Amino acid sequence: MNKLYLWGIIVTAVMLLFTYMSVAGSEGGLNGDIVNMLAVAGAVALVLITVFVVIKYVRQMQTDTAEGELADESWDNIGEYKNPVPMGWAIMFLGTMVWGMWYFLVGYPVNAYSQIGEYNEDTQVHNDKFEAQYASITGDRLIEMGESVFLAECKICHGINADGIDGKSADLNRRIEANVVKFVIENGSNNKLLGSEMPMPDRNGLFNANSGALITDAEIDAVSAYVANGMSGAGADVYAGTCAACHGEDGKGMDFVAPSIATFTPELVANVLTYGKKGVMGQMPKFERLNAKQKEAVGAYITDLSK
Ligand code: HEC
Ligand code: HEC
Repeated sequence: MNKLYLWGIIVTAVMLLFTYMSVAGSEGGLNGDIVNMLAVAGAVALVLITVFVVIKYVRQMQTDTAEGELADESWDNIGEYKNPVPMGWAIMFLGTMVWGMWYFLVGYPVNAYSQIGEYNEDTQVHNDKFEAQYASITGDRLIEMGESVFLAECKICHGINADGIDGKSADLNRRIEANVVKFVIENGSNNKLLGSEMPMPDRNGLFNANSGALITDAEIDAVSAYVANGMSGAGADVYAGTCAACHGEDGKGMDFVAPSIATFTPELVANVLTYGKKGVMGQMPKFERLNAKQKEAVGAYITDLSK
């Protein structure tokens, strides 16, 4: 017998054996229901067709010789026959081009139903309902909502009491810690805390108006303690001479100039959630999945905590 057929039979037998084993081993097995039997029958047919079509072409390749008129060009001694494109190919080629244009312009991408689209529309409807239901809550209810957002999204880094877990992230029971203030004075800050690009200069841009000179190390320590102490104690003169022009005399900030460093405000928290924040403790991620109301609520919660 021809060696090729022998191989064909071996491959067929092995593939059918695998099919049989996987179907027989599956739940329900071969006797389970007709679907399994159909699957096996289909597999037998596919394997047989594949194997024998392959054999046909392998044999043909062994004996075939090319014929026809050679083109004049030869590339590294490789010639090319001037055979016309078979009609079937030409029709398929043109047909694919027409179909491609139809598909691109009229078919799927522009017009079709999409599962993701349906999902997005559905979630949009629900989000709108959510916003409508909670749009007008204020006061204690807003703070409660903020607490639940906090427990779901923030406690993993800020701790269940919002104490920052030993400096792993910001302690939100107070506006700011001395090391954060010091870091910001030394390095400047550009976290879009005001909601847009408005950086705070670093120490080379901070003059103490009282002395008329750049802020010194001792002054930085003093003013950092002053701010972290809730704007009280020593360092008040440095603050008044260096920081008050932007952050206001009481530290509560000024619109479009500098944020409040005396208290949290819902707007500040919302900006931190929208843009994220990188500082001396690390990276606070942005929270795109929270909507405006949720940001406002968690801002109200934190503002209330740090009062
Ligand atoms: C020229 C105006 C200007 C001056 C002067 C200035 N700041 Fe700022 N400060 C800003 C701005 C603007 C930001 C917000 C930067 C940002 O978006 O990251 C900021 C941010 C800060 C922050 C970061 C707040 C946070 O939540 O992380 C601290 C702390 C701070 N300033 C403290 C000071 C102190 C202390 C001084 C005085 C030594 C001072 N600033 C002087 C404009 C100023
Ligand atoms: C992956 C950890 C992580 C998560 C989650 C996280 N934070 Fe933070 N957050 C940080 C870190 C770290 C900082 C300190 C950044 C720095 O070095 O100034 C911070 C700082 C802050 C600040 C202080 C900003 C300032 O200007 O002083 C606020 C407010 C804040 N986070 C609110 C939240 C809220 C609200 C959530 C939940 C919606 C939250 N964070 C979730 C890590 C996190």
